Amino acid sequence: MELNITCIPGDGIGPEIVAEAKKVLDAVAVKYGHNMKYTDILMGGASIDAYGVPLTDEAIETAKSADAVLMGSIGGDTTTSPWYKLPPNLRPEAGLLGIRKALNLFANLRPALLYEELAGACPLKEEISASGFDMMIMRELTGGLYFGERKTVEENGVLKAIDTLTYDENEIRRIAIKGFDIAMKRRKKVTSVDKANVLDSSRLWRKIVEEVAKDYPEVTLEHMLVDNCAMQLVKDPKQFDVILTENMFGDILSDEASMVTGSIGMLASASLNDTKFGLYEPSHGSAPDIAGKGIANPIATILSAAMMLRYSFDLDREADAIEAAVKKVLKDGWRTVDIMPQEEDERAKVKQVGTVQMGDLICGQI
Ligand code: IPM
Ligand code: MG
Repeated sequence: MELNITCIPGDGIGPEIVAEAKKVLDAVAVKYGHNMKYTDILMGGASIDAYGVPLTDEAIETAKSADAVLMGSIGGDTTTSPWYKLPPNLRPEAGLLGIRKALNLFANLRPALLYEELAGACPLKEEISASGFDMMIMRELTGGLYFGERKTVEENGVLKAIDTLTYDENEIRRIAIKGFDIAMKRRKKVTSVDKANVLDSSRLWRKIVEEVAKDYPEVTLEHMLVDNCAMQLVKDPKQFDVILTENMFGDILSDEASMVTGSIGMLASASLNDTKFGLYEPSHGSAPDIAGKGIANPIATILSAAMMLRYSFDLDREADAIEAAVKKVLKDGWRTVDIMPQEEDERAKVKQVGTVQMGDLICGQI
């Protein structure tokens, strides 16, 4: 099969981790007889430095013409980087929001699971972490507060800022359908998270989700208020299968869920439109403090490449091979610095490696 992939190395550790994901994809291509064609585009700070804007129309066109997009990370240190002296619509993040909108990537899948091999990294009490957890956060990605009208005005000498939260029923329905479809392939439970005790947008969300649920009689639906959900994620994370929620709540809850796994360097993500097209990226950021040091964990990006094979190309066997290779390398005791155990006696049982070695080890298992 010919796979036409646009790559966005991006900023910070992005280029280093994307290079390792490509290496693993190449190993898969050799083993299973595929042909990977990569075209790089610039986005975020790298694009600002080259073109003065975080995303160009040409870059969008290149991404649109591909079968899928593999991204590293964008952005820099918000207090020291000159990118953050620019107006908000010219900062690195605007590139990411721009590509999400331009490619209509409304469904963001963020798996958060506890790896058996890394259970020690989970910051929760042992009686909670011992039973493990494996959830999928389905975050709506092109609506809500992120894309509503916003402005800052001065009224009678007083500054006032306005952001608007808008959802129409179609935007809710299409993400809900994706959420229930994914739940059907998992443990058949959807927790729809909203703030229906306060917000109209949440009351509409609930109504539409309930309508969609009627088409999925095998799936159990529950509603949960977002503040309660934030609490439940640390109290009893294993209760969750699919968490279905709007853009802003999903942004916050997915960071919380990834922290609870203790290994954000391991978590992949996919952003999909209503075709097979998707953008795949690690759940973590650009980690400018460790960029260029060769110590970043490439696993989240490598697992994002596996998600790409699964969701955009239906190559389940190949995706399984990558996931199994990652598990084996962890089982054999190889760790990047971010997933090294804290305790001295546990550290003695594993071996620390850098970004490139981790990529090589995973390729070796393909
Ligand atoms: C994320 C990030 C982005 C978001 C930022 C960089 C705009 O936090 O992907 O979760 O808020 O969506
Ligand atoms: Mg975020």
